[in-house]
Amino acid sequence: ATSFVIDSDTGSDDAVAILIAALTEGSSIRLITTVAGNVGLERATRNALYTLDVAGQAHVPVYRGAASPLLRSLETAQNIHGEDGLGDLGLNEPTASAAETPAVLALLEVARTEPGQHALVTIGPMTNIALAISIDPDFLSRFTHVYCMAGVSDFVGNVTALAEFNVWVDPEATRIVLNAARAEQVTLVGWDLSRKWGVMRDEDQAALRAVGTPVADFAQRICARLDEYSRTEGGLEGYDLPDPIAVALAIDPGMVLADERAHVSVSTDEATRGALIIDRRVQAEPANVRLITEIDERRFKEIMLAAYVSGPVS
Ligand code: BDR
Ligand code: CA
Repeated sequence: ATSFVIDSDTGSDDAVAILIAALTEGSSIRLITTVAGNVGLERATRNALYTLDVAGQAHVPVYRGAASPLLRSLETAQNIHGEDGLGDLGLNEPTASAAETPAVLALLEVARTEPGQHALVTIGPMTNIALAISIDPDFLSRFTHVYCMAGVSDFVGNVTALAEFNVWVDPEATRIVLNAARAEQVTLVGWDLSRKWGVMRDEDQAALRAVGTPVADFAQRICARLDEYSRTEGGLEGYDLPDPIAVALAIDPGMVLADERAHVSVSTDEATRGALIIDRRVQAEPANVRLITEIDERRFKEIMLAAYVSGPVS
């Protein structure tokens, strides 16, 4: 059973990730913190709350986090996820509101008072996590494991030639997290994984439609905008789901077919902003992260569909 703490800049694939964590049998979400990224902070927060409504879990607390990266101005990805981040379907307002407590305080508190109980999954820029580490240097080690959807391990970026969005938006935050990371505790889930094994092709979308539950229908509709972008500009045969892979890995670590441990740092220089520097030399510094290099695509999609079949409990 996995209990999740999720840090999210809730765009469409974040919402899918939240649904999987909320609805997989035996899994539950302890809390969600939001961060500016795919969309601005207010929109990300509303999207997280709305997604919990769809999952029938409006009781899960949502905490507002950082409204901008540590040192840079925010650049969103609304051209990819839609103006509202969820495909511009004209969704209603969520039923619940965000908690009063700021996200960083909620993160520090849950880590301190419930150590070793939750998996931390970060699926947006790492601003909140960097702030938490700055206050509590042992923050990461207080979770069962930390999965970060961040970077690429094959050097093919999605914002620039070398950089992946979550890292690119706040490379200084990523640097703080990588400096505090240890390979036994932190797994990086690169965008390369979803490009290779996380694409919802026509047959996958047909299988999703065939599930026929309201949750499955929501998951498909919010990704229509992303689908269009991925096919026309992304060179993919459908939309890809990086954030859901990070959640699915926490549910079933057996999904990993190949991984490596390496010392990874990040560039904050303008020309190579947000590029991960993966040191594979023999004389590299000790590994600080585990990088996943291959996953079981069938298992990933099984986990996702099973969550939609279960649907909300109430
Ligand atoms: C990451 O950026 C966002 O577009 C996705 O939600 C994912 O977290 C992929 O680069
Ligand atoms: Ca995201």
